[in-house]
Amino acid sequence: MSALLETYAAFPFVLDHGRGDRVYDEDGSEYLDWYGGHCVTATGHSHPRVVAAIAEQAGRLLFYSAAARLRIREQAANALMSFVAGSGMSRVFFCNSGAEANENALKLAIKQTGRSGLLSFDGGWHGRTTLALAVTDDPKITDPYASVLPQSQRLPFADLAALERFDFSTVAAVIVEPIQSMSGIRCASPAWFARLRELTAAAGTWLIFDEIQTGVGRLGTPTAAEFHGVRPDALTLAKGLASGVPVGATLLSAERAAAVQSGDLGSTFGGGPLAMAALVATLQVIQEEELASHARDIGARLKQSLPGSAVTSVLGEGLLLGLRTAGPAAALKRHLFERRLLVGGSSDPQVLRLMPCLNVSEDAISALELAISQFQG
Ligand SMILES: Cc1ncc(COP(=O)(O)O)c(C=O)c1O
Repeated sequence: MSALLETYAAFPFVLDHGRGDRVYDEDGSEYLDWYGGHCVTATGHSHPRVVAAIAEQAGRLLFYSAAARLRIREQAANALMSFVAGSGMSRVFFCNSGAEANENALKLAIKQTGRSGLLSFDGGWHGRTTLALAVTDDPKITDPYASVLPQSQRLPFADLAALERFDFSTVAAVIVEPIQSMSGIRCASPAWFARLRELTAAAGTWLIFDEIQTGVGRLGTPTAAEFHGVRPDALTLAKGLASGVPVGATLLSAERAAAVQSGDLGSTFGGGPLAMAALVATLQVIQEEELASHARDIGARLKQSLPGSAVTSVLGEGLLLGLRTAGPAAALKRHLFERRLLVGGSSDPQVLRLMPCLNVSEDAISALELAISQFQG
């Protein structure tokens, strides 16, 4: 027993170290990590270039808050805005987590529009801080706080008719995961996203893309906004952005950024030099090793190779994939674990999630294909 508060059902081993697409427990057993540390290890575990950048920065300056201008922070902001150039974003505010990135976007939308309503979608998951929780569809974690959470409304996801019926001028912001991950890798059509953009723009309502899972090359493009050809008002990133060093980012369009006033946002640790160095190195690795196109190609291959008797279809894009299982997903998850393959569950009892590093290797891919073909569910 340790003094740790147990809040999560962890893998039944103690993890010791990791390299690339695999991790090793204390006994030296190797696991192929199709879970990616919960969609975080974009460049793989402990990529040498990321590790070197962190070590170099730690020796130079471990921390200074936004009270000081730092070249590495400015370099990170510029590198990120150039990486996501196709999404129409213009400025970035750095924080520490995905929930905080969403909280910031929702706060700014409320302040700038002067409205209080928020809209999200059935099955959406946006984090555990107050505004993020208010727009999250997960009764287990929202119900205990229902009496104090801000009011928000919800529409069915990917339902064009529901969009047409809604009066968007009543809400400050609409927040959406371009692919709903936790609820089982649920996608919407390009036409749905285009109409959502038209209706929100016409009503002066913020459209916030929560790209905490879909961003940073995972779908085969730098962002899902670019994938869908939609330019949101705000776009949020976290998870893979610094390969595992905590960082969140709230990106804004030029128009929305221009209305931000001094003091609107703040964070002691946000934009800290260690995270910024890891972020710059992460984006360099993704670009130089062409990891986004690798993610796209592997996703396309798995959509062909995995369906069979155990997996009826493969959902999602790039390396944010859902395996729809013929029987209970938990049985396939157990089978894969016994073969030392780590995958994620979802709130859909018939969907497993794959969200590995973007440089997942041929070895790991063929091991997954073989293990799934051997399942006798
Ligand atoms: C789509 C999405 N948004 C927001 C969050 C919250 O991010 P964090 O846990 O870094 O606060 C998550 C976390 O899983 C997520 O998947």
